Amino acid sequence: MDKIVVKGGKPLTGDVKISSAKNSVLPIIAASILSNGKCIIENAPMLEDVFVISDVLRSISADVNIDRDNNRVIIESSNICDFEPCCDLVKKLRASFLIMGPMVARFGRVRISLPGGCNIGTRPIDLHLKGFAALGADINVGYGYVEAKANELIGNNIYLDFPSVGATENIMMAATMAKGETIIENAAEEPEIEDLANYLNKMGANIKGAGTGKIKIVGVKEFKSVTHRPIYDRIEAGTFMVASAITKSKIKILGVDEEHLKPIIAKLTEMGVIIEVDNDNLVIDGRRELKPIDIKTMPYPGFPTDMQAQMMGLLSSIKGTSVITETIFENRFMHAPEMKRMGANIKIDGRSAVIEGVNKLTGCEVKATDLRAGAALILCGLAAEGNTEVTDIYHVDRGYMGIEKKLKGLGAEIYRCF
Ligand code: EPU
Repeated sequence: MDKIVVKGGKPLTGDVKISSAKNSVLPIIAASILSNGKCIIENAPMLEDVFVISDVLRSISADVNIDRDNNRVIIESSNICDFEPCCDLVKKLRASFLIMGPMVARFGRVRISLPGGCNIGTRPIDLHLKGFAALGADINVGYGYVEAKANELIGNNIYLDFPSVGATENIMMAATMAKGETIIENAAEEPEIEDLANYLNKMGANIKGAGTGKIKIVGVKEFKSVTHRPIYDRIEAGTFMVASAITKSKIKILGVDEEHLKPIIAKLTEMGVIIEVDNDNLVIDGRRELKPIDIKTMPYPGFPTDMQAQMMGLLSSIKGTSVITETIFENRFMHAPEMKRMGANIKIDGRSAVIEGVNKLTGCEVKATDLRAGAALILCGLAAEGNTEVTDIYHVDRGYMGIEKKLKGLGAEIYRCF
């Protein structure tokens, strides 16, 4: 199994280019099921999760062509004739569940293996299913599968108990072909939802308010061809911002949207990091003495849970006491014991972590328990004394395109062992 080895202590310098957002591209690929035409996604990140969701679409007979040389995914869904995607593929990637909304909208039927829990939490799908049922679908759960059937979906008012990103996306996609008007209230406001709505609207949907807590969708009958370039990955950008702070370096990050990064910029600025944004680029200077802070993860525009592990790594290396409270997932501190092996002083109490900054982190073998945990351990390795070996790196490959190449380009001593 691949691992990444980092020799810590080298300051970073230079530029790094951010890829398109994984969490935009996955629902966008799923949404392509709605179209009869050709869907082209430009500047798509060549990531394991993108390959898996493409295979999920192929398993229901869609044509998906991944042009790795030009970072492009081309999808034609006119041939879809299967309504049960391959169970083994679905199990590999939770986001596979996002095909449910488009399938029930376009074909009135889908049967899909239930996603299990995962390392970061139980992650139920009750809100997705309640939404489909409110649109008139018959939902049957049993034998490890969920099935949705509908002769016709009918628009409705749906109030989400929690602003779930996936439920908002899935229900929004289902409602695009429902008769009449659907309103989703307490919808998730993440930028990736607005990006998905922009994609759907380019295809012919009628969606207003995506990116706010109230989304209005008027059903349409048909979707056409579309070409789209997804938004930049705000979590990848945030990860490189932390890389700069943890190594006390100044770097330039190319490809950011300042609006999407506000919660991350606010917290790093509070610590004393200097950040200047110039159009799509950002210069980040972490060379000053930094202060400890408290962080609470929240739905957007609050601080993103997907940056929690990276911030824990950074705060472990800052003198003083910091507290992180994780409110989105119930089990997203799996990286803490690994960081403790590197010398971090972290105490977990339920959903909170108290972090006492230490003078130095020390390299050792640590395990990536999930995607962001793995990225955070690489960041710790950049700051640690000696060599850090991050194993189970396949988690990181699911969401960061060429992370070691990008860090090497900034001057880090990092390599991958196969
Ligand atoms: N939830 C329910 N019922 C549901 C759906 C969600 O109780 O029907 C709960 C979840 O268990 C969780 C909370 O609501 O505790 C938030 O889950 P949400 O549905 O918002 O998350 P998601 O759609 O499963 C997406 C991202 C995650 C990111 C979260 C939160 C994608 C493909 N995944 O997941 O990304 O952490 O939103 O922002 O968009 C990552 O990239 O590392 C990652 C895990």
